[in-house]
Amino acid sequence: MSDQFKQEAAERAAEDVTEGMRLGIGTGSTAEFFVQALAKRVAGGLNIVGVPTSERTRDLATELGIKLTTLDEMPQLDLTVDGADEFDPELALIKGGGGALLREKIVAAASERMIVIADGSKEVDALGRFPLPIEVVPFGLEATRRAIVTVLSDLGLPDVLVLRGGASQPFVTDGGHFILDAHLEKISDVKALATRLVAIPGVVEHGLFIDLATKAYVAGTDGVKTVL
Ligand code: 5RP
Repeated sequence: MSDQFKQEAAERAAEDVTEGMRLGIGTGSTAEFFVQALAKRVAGGLNIVGVPTSERTRDLATELGIKLTTLDEMPQLDLTVDGADEFDPELALIKGGGGALLREKIVAAASERMIVIADGSKEVDALGRFPLPIEVVPFGLEATRRAIVTVLSDLGLPDVLVLRGGASQPFVTDGGHFILDAHLEKISDVKALATRLVAIPGVVEHGLFIDLATKAYVAGTDGVKTVL
């Protein structure tokens, strides 16, 4: 069922793509449905160029015949369409469940608009039930972990950090970094947490996307609703 909803949201977003658009293309299972829907429109004659947010998305989009470029060639984009792990009523997001948060945030920040595509299970009153991905450089991992724990304690949040993939085989991002997943339950002050995390030297990026998404298509049993 969830897959069907993801596909419906993705197909709705593909309808918003117009001729000549410079498009950021997200990562994850919902974004893959979007790539498939977009590819159908491209096969039908739509002319767009995309910037993928991961190697995984690059491979799929290439395979399906979508013209791609890089942010270096095209540093300003019209629209990014991407999934999310959670979104709140202000359209603040947690992203990075698929490990692509760094490129996803760079691409979203380079875009005039960002549409989130999701099934209804991703909608929450307050972010935090989904573990917050924090991308860190491998060098000094323990020192960085401790600095993050201090920030979480200062903000009254649980300090449970899990190295994605485990110590013996950590998950490595497209940028060559590790991910610490922070099990926070409920983030009361999203902006304060974001500000404190980026100030830690070993933190490359975190999965809080604030003031980036401009619209969400959310699919459920009642069809696809628009959240603005
Ligand atoms: C990848 C992401 C994804 O957009 C997020 O994890 C949602 O994935 P899915 O569409 O598979 O539920 O942020 O880094």
